[in-house]
Amino acid sequence: MTKNITDSVYYVGVDDKTLDLFEGQYVIPNGVSYNSYVITDEKTAIMDMVDQKAAKEWFANLDAVLGDKQPDYLIISHIEPDHSANLSEVLTKYPDIKLVSNAKLFGMLPNFFEVPVEDRCVVVKEGDTLELGNHTLQFVMAPMVHWPEVMVTYEVADKILFSADGFGKFGALDAEEDWACEARRYYFNIVGKYGMPVQTLLKKTAELDIQTICPLHGPILSENLEYYIGKYKIWSSYEPEDQGVFIAYSSLHGNTGEAAKELARMLESKGVEKVVVSDLAREDMAECIEDAFRYDRLVVASPTYDGSLMPVMQDFLYHLKIKAYQKRRVGIIENGSWAPMAGKLMKEQFEGMKDIEVLENTVTVRSTLKEEDKKNLEALAKELVRQ
Ligand code: FEO
Repeated sequence: MTKNITDSVYYVGVDDKTLDLFEGQYVIPNGVSYNSYVITDEKTAIMDMVDQKAAKEWFANLDAVLGDKQPDYLIISHIEPDHSANLSEVLTKYPDIKLVSNAKLFGMLPNFFEVPVEDRCVVVKEGDTLELGNHTLQFVMAPMVHWPEVMVTYEVADKILFSADGFGKFGALDAEEDWACEARRYYFNIVGKYGMPVQTLLKKTAELDIQTICPLHGPILSENLEYYIGKYKIWSSYEPEDQGVFIAYSSLHGNTGEAAKELARMLESKGVEKVVVSDLAREDMAECIEDAFRYDRLVVASPTYDGSLMPVMQDFLYHLKIKAYQKRRVGIIENGSWAPMAGKLMKEQFEGMKDIEVLENTVTVRSTLKEEDKKNLEALAKELVRQ
């Protein structure tokens, strides 16, 4: 599929609805798009490539836009294979094409491709421009907006920001779904650790007059851009997006789960508008990470298992740690039939995280939920709703 973004800028990307796991780990029920673009002018530029799986359709899309014209430039903003896998074929098919990117990317390129490119590279740095004719490309470095070599490109005439993975989203382009839901899951799981670099990029691009954002995954954004940029400002600052409590639990026989649900009922009766309860063993882990970042309060509930935590809770907390989880109030519920340890172990996991307030009183359930436990849950609910 190709489509016009302007009368000289084309979408030539490809939807992938057959991939089981994105990056080998994230479920994508509605697929994913690998976005690529072409700018036609006196000089023609291809903006990024696609995944190996999508090569055939991508080259067909290029043929449809280029006809028998040879492209002059391939702009590479990110060397990750979902956007660069076709490089060797591109170099063969277009023998005069020049590769345009920054020194960092060209330094990483041989890790992926054993092809000689030295005499075909145009090295650009922050603020450099490339004239195509009526169009001018201006390069903005965006290190660690996923990988260290990332850059974004601003096209001056049409005011388009080619934003690399920024503003990306899971889901094929024809998926009818809320942008924020799958963009948030994508952001926190893939880019979430790099909040500061995203903030730096947002500050740099704030000086540009942007009318369209063309990311490497997900829809092209051309209306209401302040909504999307506003979401990125919140997400990259690690501030909560919504008031609410996310209760993440693991449960061997349902008793810890019952405690989690009882707490949810108490919170709702106290007027908390949004309470989300997830069984970590059954929900998508990436969705749970998203919800942990979305709300301002978190409760973790786990039984003691082999003198440690249930592995799925350990995994959840590990994910939070490597994604730089911070700035939240956290409550803890533990269960243990003979030697409860889970509360202490969960608390320890939060100690290394920044600006986390762990509520003092861990609720300890001994096997099944009893009246005394409900009183303790009530006390925890009160702590969670205090201002
Ligand atoms: Fe879509 Fe970081 O690659």
